[in-house]
Amino acid sequence: MADFAPCSPPQLENVPSAEGALPTPAELVGRPYALPIDILGELHGPAFYADYSGVRQLYMCSMALVEELCDESRFAKNLTEPLADYRQVAGDGLFTAYHGEPNWQKAHDVLLPGFSYAGLRNYHASMLDINCRLVDRWDASIGRQPVDVSGDLQKLAMDTVAAAGFGARFESFDYDGLAPIPESFTTALGMIGDREKTPEFDAELANLHGHFDELIDGHRAGSYEADDLLYSMLKDDADGKPVLEQENIRNQIMTFLIAGQLTTSELMPTALYNIVRHPLVQSRAQAEVDEVFGSDDDDYLPSYDDIGKLTYLRQVLNETLRLSPPVLGFDRMALTDQVVGGKYPVKQGEAVTVLTGALHRQPEWGDNVELFDPDRFEPALAAARPAALFVQAVRHRTSVVHRSPVRPARSHHGDRPGAPSIPPDRFATLCTAVGWRTESPARRLPP
Ligand code: HEM
Repeated sequence: MADFAPCSPPQLENVPSAEGALPTPAELVGRPYALPIDILGELHGPAFYADYSGVRQLYMCSMALVEELCDESRFAKNLTEPLADYRQVAGDGLFTAYHGEPNWQKAHDVLLPGFSYAGLRNYHASMLDINCRLVDRWDASIGRQPVDVSGDLQKLAMDTVAAAGFGARFESFDYDGLAPIPESFTTALGMIGDREKTPEFDAELANLHGHFDELIDGHRAGSYEADDLLYSMLKDDADGKPVLEQENIRNQIMTFLIAGQLTTSELMPTALYNIVRHPLVQSRAQAEVDEVFGSDDDDYLPSYDDIGKLTYLRQVLNETLRLSPPVLGFDRMALTDQVVGGKYPVKQGEAVTVLTGALHRQPEWGDNVELFDPDRFEPALAAARPAALFVQAVRHRTSVVHRSPVRPARSHHGDRPGAPSIPPDRFATLCTAVGWRTESPARRLPP
């Protein structure tokens, strides 16, 4: 059995160091979307060491270097220490599996159809149902109280991933705070940085596992109606044995909550904030929604095919992902000894991390990279752009859930390289609501 462990970076003499304090707010003036780490590339790039994650890593961010790092014949996805910490809760789930760990391929094979065009169509009804609950809740607040946009969208993301992923109904909108399972999940996740594992951590994990086991057993007994991803994971192999063990299925469920929920619950409020702050964008988005949904029926329920017609909304999501990517970086491990960019030697098994926010601010994006401009993703422009410039594009080509082999026109992450990672139906209904006021901006943005 191969040994699996987090990768370390190469030790290079010719690379500057950005270790220590991050850029200060003063250095971010005039850049309303940038985080301190987003400008490290500009200050030190295209390759530099930094330790803001708590671990010293080698970062690269220019388009040319990222193109090489994403060449699957030379580099593979593998974990460095910060991501490996998530294995305490998600084990060998897809997102946190080491390169070569057998369960990655098995899970990849059984889950792929679930992320296909046909698979996604199956989840539309439950997504719509949860979306309607949010809209009702917000409608009921009109004239009475402001809504907690970020908090409610976190609930929306959590409940949607749970329903589509494993048939769970958290009913988060029935709770003032988080519902019990999301609460347990959030608490456990908050403890993964602690060096010593406490009985509290073990108790949260046991609680989550107990809940997941019930869902798995319920699905085995056929008690769930919807054709969710969990059903795909219960398949048997040719010898009649389960392809995935119970423990790995639990890890995949945890993975959906981490990779699917944390990302989308950040994207949604940020995108809405961008829409509200840009009246022209808002009116274009609204006009598009009116055209597809009809402007005279507030209760219109979009079909799955309607969602594909919301192309401007996709542009808005992509531009939000460019400026405020929820996944700040991703790791690439050399499959054999490599020299990147003609001058950075990376030995087999060593890792380099791509810094997303810095990549998304490279000069190839144009003169004003800090400007929120969804027209950058106008279909012809997006198609002509090298995939390596946009993480959602370059990683979709290879991540299991981030591409659709069946019909690229509608993977769950969008319909072309560079498309967003969630169907925009939830935004669409929201965009029909006019006159929003922001009292609590999305969390990544400055007040
Ligand atoms: C805004 C939303 C999202 C963003 C920005 C995002 C971003 C990413 C990125 C950049 C990667 C590649 C990481 C790497 O190459 O190391 C990734 C992988 C992954 N994502 Fe997402 N994601 C989003 C939504 C989702 C959703 C909704 C799910 C599932 C319900 C999901 C599940 C996964 C999984 C399982 C992987 C690992 C895939 C593999 O290694 O085969 N993500 N995500």
